[in-house]
Amino acid sequence: MRRILILNGPNLNLLGLREPEIYGRETLADIEARCRDRAERLGVALDFRQSNHEGTLVDWLHEARDGADAVILNAGAYTHTSVAILDALRAFEGFVVELHLSNIHRREAFRHRSYVALRADGVIAGFGWRGYLHAMEAAAEALEARR
Ligand code: DQA
Repeated sequence: MRRILILNGPNLNLLGLREPEIYGRETLADIEARCRDRAERLGVALDFRQSNHEGTLVDWLHEARDGADAVILNAGAYTHTSVAILDALRAFEGFVVELHLSNIHRREAFRHRSYVALRADGVIAGFGWRGYLHAMEAAAEALEARR
């Protein structure tokens, strides 16, 4: 069974409460439940995690080297700052989707730069919680095509 790891970075534990006009009213637990449903339908194994700590995200990306076929990463604000996360992504050989709830390109200029994008195979942004499902579909199709 193909394994998809979804990693969520800083402040995403506050989804539903934090700036709902930008990020929506669904909580991260709601989104996880929808992703688990979709994983079942797609026939993939899903690991879904969140951390506010850059080093923890780096450690989880290292784990993914043996533990996942695709990584879907919403790195939150670290997207725009973290060379460490970019380097950890570069050490992972599977499929990578960069994900954002909001359309980062329509927001402040400092959100337009993404270090994650330098390694991502594809980018999904601006579709709210539905983007998680779009990313899972994209990853599952890419893994199927690589078989
Ligand atoms: C985000 C966009 C980032 O710029 C921001 O720092 C976040 C969430 C998104 O999902 O839209 O925390 O990654």
